[in-house]
Amino acid sequence: MTKTSDIAGHYTKGDLFDRLQAALRDDGVDPDKPSVATLAPYDQFHGRGLEVTEEIAETLTVTPEDHLLDIGSGIGGPARYMATRFGCRVTGIDLTEEFCAVARRLTALLGLEERVDFHQGNALAMPFADAGFAGAYSMNVSMNIADKAAFYGEIHRVLKPGGWLMLSEIALGPGGGPDYPTPWAATPASSFLVTPQQTEEGLQAAGFADIRLRETREEALAFGARAKEMVERGEKPPHRAVQLVHGAEAATMAANTARAFAAAAILPIEVHCRKPA
Ligand SMILES: C[S@@+](CC[C@H](N)C(=O)[O-])C[C@H]1O[C@@H](n2cnc3c(N)ncnc32)[C@H](O)[C@@H]1O
Repeated sequence: MTKTSDIAGHYTKGDLFDRLQAALRDDGVDPDKPSVATLAPYDQFHGRGLEVTEEIAETLTVTPEDHLLDIGSGIGGPARYMATRFGCRVTGIDLTEEFCAVARRLTALLGLEERVDFHQGNALAMPFADAGFAGAYSMNVSMNIADKAAFYGEIHRVLKPGGWLMLSEIALGPGGGPDYPTPWAATPASSFLVTPQQTEEGLQAAGFADIRLRETREEALAFGARAKEMVERGEKPPHRAVQLVHGAEAATMAANTARAFAAAAILPIEVHCRKPA
């Protein structure tokens, strides 16, 4: 059985903050004065990066009084984006201690620490009270979680009645899964992909309602083609988080993922649903 320490180990390199500062310097950005925009190529650690976070934010109704939960918050790009865009509070939880530490340092540099905080912990046993959050989202996380029923059940527990959940993630496609390594797993032992239909059924079984699922394969393929053109022109690609986190392995991971998208072996999906009021 895969241990949570194996998952965190996959994402832990030990010198992430220093490498991020070096990458910002290389971009011509003062690493002590980053912004949501200058961090976006690195701190939005999911396919299509900031493009997806913005797309999702467009579909949400969030007030400054709302407290949101970011499950598997990484180094905090989506949480800082939501807090900045909506003026709301966001709490992130992530298994990987190094990501939480980097997330806190970046949040302090942006002066957002009053409204954005991060806890190291497991999404399957969150240290949060019942019914505390107005909304929750999770971006490219469930692929690391074997027990989807426990995952959905725990999110349902911490949402207020009427609260929303948005999942943006990679599902198993008809082509039967990717080659490994991928950005989320070195081997199939820590990758737990399910089909879009299984996702819908699991959310329904956990008590969620108004489930709307959208496949975003066309968008992923178009983004991949745009990024390739930029690299061919000698520019940096728009999404550099995989390169930042995984270094030398990133090229193989990106190639495996691109091939799997093209063959529909994996499908990017976005799911909105609600805990009944
Ligand atoms: C691909 S990264 C996505 C990070 C972030 N959601 C983003 O989009 O920038 C996947 C994240 O899920 C976290 N994760 C995986 N399994 C988890 C679990 N059981 N509980 C909490 N976090 C988990 C990992 O530590 C990692 O930070």
